[in-house]
Amino acid sequence: MTQSAYWNRIAEKAKGENRPFFSLAPMEAVTGTVFRRVIMRAAAPDNFYTEFTNALSITHPLAKEATKGRLYIDPEENPKPIVQLWGNSGVDFSKAVKEVEKDGYEAIDLNMGCPDIAVIKNHSGSDLIRHFDTAQEVIDGARQSDLPVTVKTRLGYSKIEEFETWIPFLLKQQVPVLTVHVRTREEMSKVPAHYELIDQLVQMRDAIAPDTLLQINGDIADYQAGIQLAKEHPGVDGIMIGRGIFMNPYAFEKVPQVHSSHELLGLLRYQLDLYDEFVAKGIPGHFAPLQRFFKIYVRGMKGASAIRNELMMTKTTDQARAVINEIDPS
Ligand SMILES: Cc1cc2nc3c(=O)[nH]c(=O)nc-3n(C[C@H](O)[C@H](O)[C@H](O)COP(=O)(O)O)c2cc1C
Repeated sequence: MTQSAYWNRIAEKAKGENRPFFSLAPMEAVTGTVFRRVIMRAAAPDNFYTEFTNALSITHPLAKEATKGRLYIDPEENPKPIVQLWGNSGVDFSKAVKEVEKDGYEAIDLNMGCPDIAVIKNHSGSDLIRHFDTAQEVIDGARQSDLPVTVKTRLGYSKIEEFETWIPFLLKQQVPVLTVHVRTREEMSKVPAHYELIDQLVQMRDAIAPDTLLQINGDIADYQAGIQLAKEHPGVDGIMIGRGIFMNPYAFEKVPQVHSSHELLGLLRYQLDLYDEFVAKGIPGHFAPLQRFFKIYVRGMKGASAIRNELMMTKTTDQARAVINEIDPS
């Protein structure tokens, strides 16, 4: 296995009392370079992941230009993110990984859990849970660079019991990190995460791939909840948090603080500035609407819904700044 900076950092964090390591989950149209830097400033986890990127598009002559935005790493980013790829062809992966290696990524994560119907129709994401042979091809293809290759998946496609064969299959691949969102594809995010199965996952890992670090994902609100979950399930190495960040941008704070409206709006101001900076670089393919973020920063504020509505009407970062300045003159 490659001794990349990523691996050294994670292996160190996964030892004894440093456990667990924490990650911000890959989230489409959310965890681009701009938002990663916002969370880096608020309270940084050990790992960041990119939004998922289609492996084929990375080298496809008609699509590759459009992936530049989602693959962009800012020099200020520390640690560098892990690039998450999705697809269904070993050949696509073998070409894509050589490109992302050149981009400066230090690890590759394979998406084997996305429940989106378009991705499943493409025989990718969680559809791989039903097709071990394709999953194998994808892993083998992704291993055609020197970077560590990790996997993020769900327990099964339609039935929970599928984890009894699917997880051992993945563990046999001896991936350095296996992230399990402890739900099936059919459950989407509609039922509580199956924490009751975590100890069985740990046992499987211990028996089949003791060197694989097991990262748990699903419904974990923040750092404190992650620490508690890891304490209840010894053997868990990593905690991944996704939607918790929408409720609290300081979710990775080790000692929770009360954050004033001024601080929260300060983060939004920072995000707007970074967004302008990013757009000014002229990199195509990153037009994720900023609006989806506004609620994160105004939640809990007096008159939150009116402020949010006003922000939602804005069309430019300057208009959004004007709304913020009315509430919180800087
Ligand atoms: C807006 C959004 C976008 C997501 N995009 C991705 C993605 O690109 N790749 C991925 O593996 N999972 C993606 N997910 C799933 C999350 O990474 C995570 O597995 C899921 O939200 C459960 O964790 P949580 O309860 O901490 O949010 C996405 C989830 C959300 C809410």
